[in-house]
Amino acid sequence: MVLACCQKNTGMSHQTAVKKEVFGTMPDGREVKIFTLANRNGLEARVTEYGAILVSVKTPDKSGKSADITLGYDTLDGWLTNTSYFGATVGRFGNRIKDGKFTLDGREYTLATNNDPGGIPCHLHGGVTGFDKVLWSGKPTDENGVEFTYLSKDGEEGYPGNLSVKVTYSLTDADELIWEATATTDAPTIVNIVHHTYWNLSGDLSASINDHVLTLNAPSYLPTDAGLIPTGEIATVAGTPMDFTTPQPIGVRVDDDFEALKHGGGYDHAWVLEKGTGVRLAARVKDPKTGRVMEVLTDQSAVQFYGGNFLDGTATGKGGVNYAHRTGLCLETEGFPDSPNKPSFPSPVLRPGETYRHVMIHRFSAE
Ligand code: BGC
Repeated sequence: MVLACCQKNTGMSHQTAVKKEVFGTMPDGREVKIFTLANRNGLEARVTEYGAILVSVKTPDKSGKSADITLGYDTLDGWLTNTSYFGATVGRFGNRIKDGKFTLDGREYTLATNNDPGGIPCHLHGGVTGFDKVLWSGKPTDENGVEFTYLSKDGEEGYPGNLSVKVTYSLTDADELIWEATATTDAPTIVNIVHHTYWNLSGDLSASINDHVLTLNAPSYLPTDAGLIPTGEIATVAGTPMDFTTPQPIGVRVDDDFEALKHGGGYDHAWVLEKGTGVRLAARVKDPKTGRVMEVLTDQSAVQFYGGNFLDGTATGKGGVNYAHRTGLCLETEGFPDSPNKPSFPSPVLRPGETYRHVMIHRFSAE
């Protein structure tokens, strides 16, 4: 059911429309909306109030054929079963926190240990009911976009402070999907809000991403222990299978006998981005078959490149596809994992009066 159609004059000759529809209802009966963004080049992105999730992105390949290039589900009921964080806005702290504990201003906080890579429990992606599993409030913006807001209450999932969060998605006629998160708090807390879409630029969501060619603007990465918690070392990528400073097909070295790859079961690490200020290029990925290219730009210090190693075919998604091992890749721009416990890492602490801000741009093309 189409609820509304918000016409917006964005330029001399072009009009865009954000379409708002009912997507379904939460188990407690609350209504969930879905919004469709489109641009003049035939790109389409759908976003929902559930988890501030990016539900789908349709882009043309080099022959003009359009396909959905994101893993996920066809219906809200499917999304409610999402345990892989497909498309999600992840928080309050995306990525891992060792032992689910951190100390802030002398007080220790205990969070859920909802993940255990290598059999070692840790806190992952905000806990049991993180930002990906709550209902946000969405409304169209003047920028061919949608703004989602959510109040994460003091104590929610063990985090201190009432955190007011805003996430916007905007689609430009330059084929950029802009995701931006901002947050303010009324008490000191930690924040690392992360966008977690799984991409498969081939548009065939049953195909491996190992033939995608990846470039990371990152001279170093964060080695981890067996529980995927950074050791604190910042290691150069030079001479290792972690070196994506030049374009490399993902699958060529993914199973090399290299400690980081053994721990992650493949690529699942934070790369430290080339130093700089403002929004800058972090990653470029290309599917050679379809020619689709996606560039990722950000103002953050790191990007978690996760190659879908934990996908095991048990989740049945769009069109009945079972998402198999390494059929989607994530490029999650963010602060450093486990930074609450690593004084040498950039601080994730947000204090009253400060504003957390994270910009992530996906720029699509085909060649
Ligand atoms: C992590 C993976 C984890 C996945 C969950 C990624 O951000 O790096 O280790 O399995 O999220 O979907």
